[in-house]
Amino acid sequence: MVKAIISPSVLASDFGQLTAECQRMIKGGAEWLHMDVMDGHFVPNITMGAPILTCVHKGIPDIFMDCHMMVAQPEKWVNDIADAGGALYCFHIEATSDPLSLITAIHARNMKAGVAISPDTPSNAITDEIGEKADMLLVMTVYPGRGGQKFLERCVPKVAELRSRFPEKDIEVDGGVGPKTIDVCADAGSNVIVAGTAIFNAPNAEEVIQLLKDTVNTAQVKLAVK
Ligand code: DX5
Ligand code: ZN
Repeated sequence: MVKAIISPSVLASDFGQLTAECQRMIKGGAEWLHMDVMDGHFVPNITMGAPILTCVHKGIPDIFMDCHMMVAQPEKWVNDIADAGGALYCFHIEATSDPLSLITAIHARNMKAGVAISPDTPSNAITDEIGEKADMLLVMTVYPGRGGQKFLERCVPKVAELRSRFPEKDIEVDGGVGPKTIDVCADAGSNVIVAGTAIFNAPNAEEVIQLLKDTVNTAQVKLAVK
């Protein structure tokens, strides 16, 4: 059985107060912070890179930065993100021709390695070998590129397929996830929950974090007795 991890996406935060926003989430019960790095190539937008992560890490040295690398050449940024204090480096399988070597390079810098699939990428793009070697698998439930999009329920069966092959692996969902859409994600076996607007825009972030966590942990108990 895997445990619930809540990773608020800072894309929905006030970037001018980024460190304080991260601290607010940790106080509210978040285990991880989801840092959306976009390069204007893999996705049309540009967000933040290693210099900003360095500042956040300096302000909160024990933060777990779950770095979602929406970048065209993920090999290029492993060292910079490791130096910035990244704890998990999640790359898109669509962006690399050699995922296994990339995972080796990420591990060599003492980061956990995550492998992400966009909505149109089938779950079998994550082969057994890649899935075993990775620490986390990310099923995108929106097209990568911006926050606040509508949850794509058709992506959820990929979570269930990956969970059946990798019972002990962290499986993350990202995009349009919140109190209204968490049930299907949790029932399919996802345990790492990214939520941006649903948490940052809520009147009480702590309550939303707790609800997401309880839903996942309850679903995990049900899945374990099946
Ligand atoms: C989308 C990002 C997501 C996004 C999630 O490209 O990867 O992390 O910020 O935001 P919400 O939860 O608002 O869909
Ligand atoms: Zn993300």
